[in-house]
Amino acid sequence: MREFPLTLSRFIIQAQAEHSGATGEFSSLLTQIGLVGKLIAQDLRRAGLINILGTTGDTNVQGETVKKLDVIANDDFVKVFQHSDYVCALASEEMEKPILLPDNWSHGKYMLLFDPLDGSSNTDNNMPLGAIFSVLKYSQQSDRSPTDGELMRRGTEQVAAGYLLYGSSTMLVYTVGQGVYGFTLEPGIGEYLLSHERIRIPDKGKVYSANEGNYHKWSAGTKRYVDSLKVSDKESGRPYSSRYTGCLVADVHRLLLGGGIYLYPGEVDKPEGKLRLLYEANPMAFVVEQAGGKASTGTSRIMEVEPKKLHQRVPLIIGSRLDVEQAETFMQGKD
Ligand code: AHG
Ligand code: MN
Ligand code: MN
Repeated sequence: MREFPLTLSRFIIQAQAEHSGATGEFSSLLTQIGLVGKLIAQDLRRAGLINILGTTGDTNVQGETVKKLDVIANDDFVKVFQHSDYVCALASEEMEKPILLPDNWSHGKYMLLFDPLDGSSNTDNNMPLGAIFSVLKYSQQSDRSPTDGELMRRGTEQVAAGYLLYGSSTMLVYTVGQGVYGFTLEPGIGEYLLSHERIRIPDKGKVYSANEGNYHKWSAGTKRYVDSLKVSDKESGRPYSSRYTGCLVADVHRLLLGGGIYLYPGEVDKPEGKLRLLYEANPMAFVVEQAGGKASTGTSRIMEVEPKKLHQRVPLIIGSRLDVEQAETFMQGKD
């Protein structure tokens, strides 16, 4: 008889059993992320039928157009976690200020930062979407909730991170710092099953992923690097193929399995880039590093960037180790 794959809940319980002193709070938090994924995936499947496509008419704190589904996805995260007893703070791309649970509420020791819907320009055309999460531990031995400032930690302090990918199937991919595991939602039974064990990203790939419409806004080093990928050279596997979905999660997931590089670099007039450090770049960097890859601003390691603002942006160059190192060489003018 064929062995039945591990369910996410069983996998989490097994992992918890290996940690003496674990209270189960962290395991429950991950299970709840899975639940949020199921709620959002359900909405996405019928989005074209129930009038939840399009925009709300508002712009968010980043000045970006808010999609109805951005709000729905954010509400799903908040609904599931606000009264969960697992977190003391929630921060999201869609909320200007974090939700800091009042001191007199029962709350847990984790702080959850998230991008509730990633790639939201894809909502109206049935393209892939995602969600990204970063888990920090509130170290203070007190009943007091953290302050806004205490949510701003370097990526190296994350205790877990991962993403949900809503593609042709729904997946949950995460790390707790001991490798990367991927689970695929089996819709028939509503369970996530272990489908990708100990994911390793190839050291070098043959795909690059960037919004080349911005080419003329890039620095000379970035232009030279991307130009170099198009020059035929059998030995180094060039030209690279270009693939870009407009959804960071989907583009990085492809690289995680097949190798290559994703770039959302800084621009001459916008050196800080587009993507957000705390709930996009840091969690994706933790996952990719745990799979053996690299994540860089072009000059330094993403997870060592000192955050100054909750919604801070950062240039992101992420993917296979050798590809990211080569991009850094160009971006630093050492080519
Ligand atoms: P979000 O939908 O959370 O705002 O993120 C969109 C991000 C990312 O997913 C994607 O790679 C990038 O922005 C796309 O930006 P462009 O449309 O500028 O290429
Ligand atoms: Mn995003
Ligand atoms: Mn988003």
